[in-house]
Order: sequence, then structure tokens, then C-alpha cells
Amino acid sequence: MQLRDVTPDDVDAYIRMRCDPVMMADLGGPVPRELQADKVRRDARDAAADVSWIKMIVPDEGAPEVVAGTVVVWSHDTEEGPLSEIGWMVLPGFQGRGLAKRATRALLERARDEGRWGVVHAFPAIGNGASNGICRSLGFRLVGEQEVPFAGRVLRSNHWAIDPRTDLVSPR
Ligand SMILES: CC(C)(COP(=O)(O)OP(=O)(O)OC[C@H]1O[C@@H](n2cnc3c(N)ncnc32)[C@H](O)[C@@H]1OP(=O)(O)O)[C@@H](O)C(=O)NCCC(=O)NCCS
Repeated sequence: MQLRDVTPDDVDAYIRMRCDPVMMADLGGPVPRELQADKVRRDARDAAADVSWIKMIVPDEGAPEVVAGTVVVWSHDTEEGPLSEIGWMVLPGFQGRGLAKRATRALLERARDEGRWGVVHAFPAIGNGASNGICRSLGFRLVGEQEVPFAGRVLRSNHWAIDPRTDLVSPR
């Protein structure tokens, strides 16, 4: 598995992930297709400028054109100050192979090694078994439940937090 920066050419993967009702069931529902070209351009710009880490998951380095999903770390402002957040998505044809967990661990290892982002938070939907399992097994601690605004909607989520420098669990 390899992680690489998003580019504007990833618009098709964005549409397959973000405009699909099943993929977005726990993320507030699908978002409009016509917004994706602009979204991927802005993300590619932020990734290139190292403002955020916006990575495409490439399962097989020998087939770099095949994208399985995405894992992202970014910072945003809250009432309590800036907060670093991580999120992940894996397309249905690639689910159940441990890819989301490996990609998430790889990005947190990089955060640890570069000493960047501080404590990283994740907000998976309460009913998302796989994502809550990823948090638990990588060493996140459960902070509590929270209502999270996402794409103009409110989702009921678990709030997890990890300090990758001290808490990240290595593969067995
Ligand atoms: C959630 C999602 C990222 C999981 O991707 P994936 O690559 O299939 O996940 P993995 O294969 O890495 O599995 C992660 C862990 O969850 C476990 N798991 C999988 N499905 C599960 C379920 N329904 N209930 C409990 N645990 C589950 C796996 O066994 C694995 O744990 P393990 O390594 O200890 O065995 C993917 O289904 C997805 O993108 N869904 C739509 C978008 C989404 O919900 N994103 C997350 C928002 S927080």
C-alpha cells in the first residue's frame, strides 16, 4: 500500500466516494457531483502547499492508477482553538482488507515522526463498527459522544483522540 497526495485528476475517485449514498451514509449523505471538481482542486492545492495531508490510498504500488480511498489530516478552528482531525474512506470493492486501518496508521506514524499535528481527533458515527474498531485498535482513547456538524447536517459521533507520539499501537 502507498499513500500519495491528491491531484486534480482524482475527481473520479472523489465522485465515487463522496456522491455515493452508501459511502456517505455515516457522513451526512451524498454531496453534489458538480461540486467535486472544485473540491478536488482545492484539496490538491492544500495538499501541495502542505496545509493539510490529503492522501489517496493506492493498494498496489505496481498499479498506481488504482485508488482505493482516502485518508486525511487537517486542522480547523473550534471554540476551544485549533483542532487536528483525521478521517478516512475506503471504496466498497476494497473494504474488509485492512486498508483503512493500515492507511490511518501510516499517516499517524508520519505525524509522530514529523512531530506535527499534536493530539489528533476522529469523529466516526456511533454505528460505524469498522471506523470505531480502527480507532480502538490503533490506540485512540474514547473522549465521549458528540454531535458533529458535517456538510450542513448534524451527525451523532464518537469523539476519539490520540497523541501519535505516545499512544500509537504498532502492528502485531
Ligand atoms: C469505514 C471504512 C473506512 C472501513 O474501511 P476498511 O478498509 O473496510 O476497514 P478495515 O478493513 O481496515 O477494517 C478496520 C477494522 O474494523 C473491523 N471491522 C470491519 N467491519 C466491522 C464492523 N461492521 N463492525 C466492527 N468491526 C468491523 C475490521 O475487522 C478491522 O479490525 P481488525 O484489524 O482489528 O480486524 C469503509 O467501510 C468506508 O469508507 N465506509 C464509508 C465511509 C465512512 O464511513 N468513513 C468513515 C467515517 S468516520
